[in-house]
Amino acid sequence: MKKNIVILGTQWGDEGKGKIVDSLTQDSAYVVRYQGGHNAGHTLVVNGEKIILHLIPSGILHDNVIGIIANGVVVSPLELMKEIKMLEKRSISINNRLILSHASPLILQYHIDMDVAREKKLGINALGTTGRGIGPAYEDKVARRALRLSDLKDEKKLAIRLEKIVDYYNHQLVSFYHQKSIDYKIILRDLLPTIDFLYDMIQDTTAILHQAIADKKKIVFEGAQGSFLDIDHGTYPYVTSSNSTIGGVITGTGVGPKNLDYILGVTKAYSTRVGYGPFPSELFNNIDKHLSHKGNEFGSTTGRKRRTGWLDTVSLCRAVKINSLSALCITKLDVLDGLDEIKICISYKNNHTSEIIKYPSIDDWENITPIYEIHPGWKKKTLGIKKLEDLPYAARNYISRIEEITQIPIDLISTGPDRFDIIFINSYN
Ligand code: GDP
Ligand code: IMO
Ligand code: MG
Repeated sequence: MKKNIVILGTQWGDEGKGKIVDSLTQDSAYVVRYQGGHNAGHTLVVNGEKIILHLIPSGILHDNVIGIIANGVVVSPLELMKEIKMLEKRSISINNRLILSHASPLILQYHIDMDVAREKKLGINALGTTGRGIGPAYEDKVARRALRLSDLKDEKKLAIRLEKIVDYYNHQLVSFYHQKSIDYKIILRDLLPTIDFLYDMIQDTTAILHQAIADKKKIVFEGAQGSFLDIDHGTYPYVTSSNSTIGGVITGTGVGPKNLDYILGVTKAYSTRVGYGPFPSELFNNIDKHLSHKGNEFGSTTGRKRRTGWLDTVSLCRAVKINSLSALCITKLDVLDGLDEIKICISYKNNHTSEIIKYPSIDDWENITPIYEIHPGWKKKTLGIKKLEDLPYAARNYISRIEEITQIPIDLISTGPDRFDIIFINSYN
């Protein structure tokens, strides 16, 4: 029997999850997004062609795979429709291959306006959100006032509820944020074309997944964001508003932990972060230029330059524990090609007490200095290498050292953006 696998980020997002999901879903029946929204940007490169997905799960390029957007995801019907049309334009039909949870909260224009207005008001204390309305949409869910995908199925009721919610938002937008008010009729007008378009896709995805499990069909769960953007376990308040760690799979789909057979944590061979917040191993020198340029470290969703840093195994070890990872996948090893030396952050020094701390509280991450181990770099190109034995000696040592520190196996190494630029070390099935 094929195992059900979870693929999630162990850093601050953009670890290359999309590429790995695409590579590992070929033989699966379902691929499932379980949290986040169109703040995600997952890049797939197949035959030199690049596709960036924000909401639709990355396995969708395999025409035997059914995509599910489960209840934990906040869905913008307009963005979803755009994305489906973008795929169809590129001859990727999603006909009968995409199912949406009736329980997914909607993202509508007022969430986006609120997100943007708040960031503006915060000024230098802004979080650096993607401006996609993610925070306000999750707030509505928790406050029990959200419109959900199932609400698209009754237009009359939808209009009544929309009017009330828009009224609630207008009070804040106008009085507190001094923004323009919104007319609910315009939101309704824009929403109507999406209703016909999405209507048949809206189903009870939890029941569908339970049936798939009963039928012993393989499911791949695709995480968005990364462990330290998690609302509970991340660098709060510089986080997103969902659980991007393992718990998000369970609450975001209705599939229980016993049905998750293999949890793969994806980590870059170095670190990046978009937006503000603590980043212990951040670099501001020529190495940043190298990583940024060679790794093309610009956000897939907002185009912002990503901050870069060395691999931080203090936070990585924390991610291993939080997510109870089965194994790691190291991506973008090729980006380190050509560096004279490569550093690994192995512990932190408290700036006030000078104490060395191996397992610091996240609240201390802003007041520490990272301590590094220095490893020799390699001059050979690793881009596109598919066999472990073809990697330069120094690169293999680097991988072994990460394995030794984290105490879990590295099952996969990604050596380029293309679907096939991958080294399979241990079998994950
Ligand atoms: P995700 O959000 O985790 O899916 O990652 P993104 O797609 O936002 O960012 C990862 C970027 O790195 C994309 O541009 C990918 O095409 C690229 N990428 C993924 N794996 C590799 C790799 O092993 N090497 C290189 N050079 N690029 C990679
Ligand atoms: P993928 O799935 C990287 C960051 C934003 C901001 C913070 C909160 O591609 O890895 P939000 O709009 O979610 O309220 O923003 O989270 N962020 C991401 N950073 N990759 C992502 O997704 C991200 N999604 C959100 O930059 O700092
Ligand atoms: Mg991304």
